[in-house]
Amino acid sequence: MSMQTRMWKPAEPDNPNDPHVREAANLLNHQEVVAFPTETVYGLGADATDEVAVQRIFEAKGRPADNPLIVHVATKEQVDRLVSHIPDVAHLLMDTFWPGPLTLILESNGEAAKNVTAGLTTIGIRMPDHPLALSLLKATEKPLAAPSANRSGRPSPTQALHVKQDLDGRVAGILDGGTTGVGLESTVLDCTSNVPVILRPGGITKEQLETVLPHVAVDPALADENNKPKSPGMKYTHYAPEAPLYLIEGTDEFFLEQVERLKEEGHRIGVIASRELAEQLSHERIITCGSRLNMAEVAGQLYHALREFKKSEVDIIVTEVFDESGVGAAVMNRLQKAAVNVIQPS
Ligand code: TXA
Ligand code: MG
Repeated sequence: MSMQTRMWKPAEPDNPNDPHVREAANLLNHQEVVAFPTETVYGLGADATDEVAVQRIFEAKGRPADNPLIVHVATKEQVDRLVSHIPDVAHLLMDTFWPGPLTLILESNGEAAKNVTAGLTTIGIRMPDHPLALSLLKATEKPLAAPSANRSGRPSPTQALHVKQDLDGRVAGILDGGTTGVGLESTVLDCTSNVPVILRPGGITKEQLETVLPHVAVDPALADENNKPKSPGMKYTHYAPEAPLYLIEGTDEFFLEQVERLKEEGHRIGVIASRELAEQLSHERIITCGSRLNMAEVAGQLYHALREFKKSEVDIIVTEVFDESGVGAAVMNRLQKAAVNVIQPS
């Protein structure tokens, strides 16, 4: 698989008639795959009603076929055409949080290509809050299946350059909309049971959902690694940087001791740290990812930080444990998935 990957930076991101947007839409209408920015991460889009087009997403990413894709829409009418029924709770959530980083799992009516849902009877749908994504959806007039636009297993892309690093020559084009805002993926919420269940924590926090819902459950698989996850994607290695990632729990003092110990053992260490922790380190290879008191900032910078360290430069990447309230739940979910080792004070 090698093709010329076009790069476009539309002058008018909110105009569906922008020539670059139209060119991208035209390729999508001819079964090609195109990457585009959303408010969370870049997505790799294809016509969600076309099995051949959707198959190209799996091929370009190297994604396992049993991991279903999220479908992106520009209107609620497009949701009607994909599902058998919209429960009241889903209407309420759409009205409150769309466009935005919330994916709703609903009963599929079978209109989407069958590889989108990977054989499930349910379908994940969201309306992205990004002018370029919405322009593209309007220009194609089609729902677009779009997983994150990274090679399978890698950190999700928050810049067009990250997409190019992973998928150059493997996709028809990349729409460049600059750095994405939220920085990690949407919350996946199963609305097919009486009490909605968070299958993947993300940009819309549990606390936000609780402002409109009396009860919100969390998939037990999120806490228990041995439990079979209900969101099929959660069982694979994810978000992996080039070098093994270690999570260090405990105090800042313990963190500094562990960095020294690993260095003494002869490892070249890369540190991903909050500004507060970084200030205490005299280490030469540090990437800061914002303030630990502002988890939205950490979320926005995390994937870029995970991509920054190259295996030619470091043997081990270490990072701290962040507060799990708000979007911190999503940050820690991704770090736990990415990490191969957790170091705890004895
Ligand atoms: O923010 C996002 O959600 C980004 C942007 C591009 O929109 N997309 C994204 O897609 O993260 P992806 O494919 O990397 O992750 C989709 C997640 C996976 O964990 C998948 O298993 C789950 O959603 N999912 C999709 N359809 C599902 C379904 N019917 N039931 C349960 N989980 C589902
Ligand atoms: Mg992904």
